[in-house]
Amino acid sequence: MSAVEEIQAAKGRSMGSHQSAAMITDRWLTPRHVLDAMGEFDLDPCGAPGWSTAKTVYTPETHGDGLTLQWHGRVWLNPPYGKQATIWMRRLADHGNGTALIFARTETRMFFETVWNRASAVLFLEGRLTFVRPDGTPAKANGGAPSVLIAYGESDALKLKHCSIPGQFIPLGMVA
Ligand SMILES: C[S@@+](CC[C@H](N)C(=O)[O-])C[C@H]1O[C@@H](n2cnc3c(N)ncnc32)[C@H](O)[C@@H]1O
Repeated sequence: MSAVEEIQAAKGRSMGSHQSAAMITDRWLTPRHVLDAMGEFDLDPCGAPGWSTAKTVYTPETHGDGLTLQWHGRVWLNPPYGKQATIWMRRLADHGNGTALIFARTETRMFFETVWNRASAVLFLEGRLTFVRPDGTPAKANGGAPSVLIAYGESDALKLKHCSIPGQFIPLGMVA
């Protein structure tokens, strides 16, 4: 089962804890080589326990809802999947400083609103990412869809341009 299929299946399940199913089933973690190539981030507002992505990592377990908390500095965002991703992407676009990793659904309303109309640059990744399971092991299959890194702010656009991750870099808006 690919990441996309598993996430879709997880959406249909319910859970009996105080955290919503969506908060803890979307645990497809960013591969280490992507994070390492992007440099240090100040905050991951939707992280996972034990997976170091930024100096400060909000997780549902440790901080509750990262959407309602204050965001600071350079933000790393691999948001919960599905419709809820839109609100996280809007928040990062408003914040204006950081990089997101999402599936390259370039035709969607969300992509037009939060990426094409608001981002500084994109890097379409060559090949498909294999995400990481909560226990730190790679998933058995790749994500099942193409991924894209999206920079907000000129500094992150330049980091994306010069990172070592294979793909097609495209500046948007003012960044040349
Ligand atoms: C796709 S995973 C990405 C994890 C991590 N940011 C990374 O890049 O590897 C999405 C994460 O968002 C977390 N999450 C979902 N809803 C959340 C919320 N409201 N507040 C904080 N974290 C949330 C999930 O627990 C999950 O770990």
